[in-house]
Amino acid sequence: MEKNQNATVLRQETIAKDIYSMWIETPAADKAVPGQFLSLYPKDASRILPRPISICECESGRLRIIYRVVGGGTAEFSAYHAGDPVRILGPLGNGFPKEDGHALLIGGGIGLPPLLGLAKTLPGDVDIVCGFRDETFLTDEFSSHGRVWIATEDGSAGTKGTVIDAIREEGLLADVIYACGPMPMLRAVKNHAIKNGIRAWLSLEERMACGIGACLGCVCKSTEVDAHSLVHNKRVCKDGPVFSAEEVEL
Ligand code: FES
Repeated sequence: MEKNQNATVLRQETIAKDIYSMWIETPAADKAVPGQFLSLYPKDASRILPRPISICECESGRLRIIYRVVGGGTAEFSAYHAGDPVRILGPLGNGFPKEDGHALLIGGGIGLPPLLGLAKTLPGDVDIVCGFRDETFLTDEFSSHGRVWIATEDGSAGTKGTVIDAIREEGLLADVIYACGPMPMLRAVKNHAIKNGIRAWLSLEERMACGIGACLGCVCKSTEVDAHSLVHNKRVCKDGPVFSAEEVEL
């Protein structure tokens, strides 16, 4: 089983309102694959649960996470500077499987970061659809690894509407879809994939507690009976966070 490790913040910057990019020095980087996540422990003892944050990209001995400040734990992380220690657990979860064929990557908001690491490792041309409410981020970095299409709810950039509106508007085709983002987006992506006969891998963002499969605090509904719980459940932290579209009920 993975153990807590001490790691060191290498650098941190804000890349959009309340969105932070942090590079961490850790040997865990050498084992991580795109789609896995880290649990970060706040130093504040009143916050005992770690915060699950997806891994954006990895290099030898260091990895990058991108997260949104949503509460006290992530607010604490956002104040870290280069050289600060940080306690982590991971890499956790399964990661994205690699499939042949033309890939379409679809990310919504803070679901985008794990797709950057994936885009870097996929061979050939990929299409990347980035969905935002308003302010965009990471799109320049994605453009080094594929064609980027943007959808914004307020129409301030790209297609006005959802990621599915952008896919339809641009006539984007695919053999395999990789997606990460909020549940309504994943539901729409799943429907789009099934309707068009496209294989799809969805990374679920669930609230988590233990992060290692012990508490069942993160279960989602599965189509098949799960071997661990013997009910229609999957633990997002342990069995996922990446599932095939047919495997989960959204
Ligand atoms: Fe505890 Fe997933 S968070 S089982």
